[in-house]
Amino acid sequence: MTDPSQPLCVPVALGERSYDILIGAGVLGALARHLRTLSGTGRAFVISDETVWSLHGAALTAGLAADGLHSIPWLVPPGENSKSWDMLGRTLDHLLHHGAGRDDVIVAFGGGVVGDLSGLAAALLKRGMTLVQVPTTLLAQVDSSVGGKTAVNTRQGKNLIGAFYQPDLVLADTALLASLPERERRAGYAEIIKYGLIDDVDFLGWLESQGPAVLALDPDAVAEAVAVSCRAKARIVAADEREGGVRALLNLGHTFGHTLEAANQYGPALLHGEAVGTGMALALRYSVRLGLMPEAEARRGTALIGAAGLQTDLSRLAGGPYRAADLVDAMRQDKKVRAGRLPLILASGLGKAFIYQDADLNDVAAFLSEELQTR
Ligand code: GLY
Repeated sequence: MTDPSQPLCVPVALGERSYDILIGAGVLGALARHLRTLSGTGRAFVISDETVWSLHGAALTAGLAADGLHSIPWLVPPGENSKSWDMLGRTLDHLLHHGAGRDDVIVAFGGGVVGDLSGLAAALLKRGMTLVQVPTTLLAQVDSSVGGKTAVNTRQGKNLIGAFYQPDLVLADTALLASLPERERRAGYAEIIKYGLIDDVDFLGWLESQGPAVLALDPDAVAEAVAVSCRAKARIVAADEREGGVRALLNLGHTFGHTLEAANQYGPALLHGEAVGTGMALALRYSVRLGLMPEAEARRGTALIGAAGLQTDLSRLAGGPYRAADLVDAMRQDKKVRAGRLPLILASGLGKAFIYQDADLNDVAAFLSEELQTR
């Protein structure tokens, strides 16, 4: 079992923007110690959502108070709607009202929505405050708390207003996951599988045997899965912080996945990770269709996604309705489309993802029509 005094540490090497990700059950207990170094004022501006706060807020506040730190909470409603321009403005207003300055620290205590909103607020307020990410969902621990992309959504689409702004520290306390609904655990697990599919076939083998333990939140298994995922993300982000090249591999399953989310107006019928799970299965099968990947390997990858309770069959996916023409229309809005062709993350084998530069959207539409027939 992970010893909280000896958490796993994954460094993110980005020169003067480098930081550590500390992973393990109980690492939240180290927050006060780190804040004493990071905060010049002895206070912490904690941004959270109402659900996370009702579960863990009292413990966080008491832990900081015991170390002489004063926390000033700002709570937003749970859900994607809080990632808005309006909520960003209100958050900045709250920070300014309390006199937050560059020697203060923002603690993002929640899932991806809280992390993205807090990160952008930290980037903007006085041109940059210290930021500590304390992700409370599996998806945020393995993906959204790391890497520095922050954003809010607008009427025109997701994540259209944002900034690259790296945190100063990430504390991924795996004990917090115990309160996470099972559906959200599975959704976060999709992003864990993604790292294996990108370039780590050994990790896929490990997930085939240890995946059930990860999903059951066995402390060692979940800490290992979070650490391997964070190491993979840290390596890719360190190589390409601003997505000029290799970082695009992190979008495996996401181009298909975003169109599925868009078909549900990004609503609760389909969680982001669920869409990514189905999207990765589609990317594997589309790779087979183009003759890029052996079918047996795609089946093995798809089986791993399905074993986690994620839907790999588009014709049975919750939410919708899904129509091939609408899904491809959503893809056409992608800013990378040129002359009806789009770069897609595909694979030549398990652990061998690559950027396929010019997917023909008419062919993708034909593929999706076939996928939507009952299999
Ligand atoms: N914050 C998520 C990312 O940078 O990928």
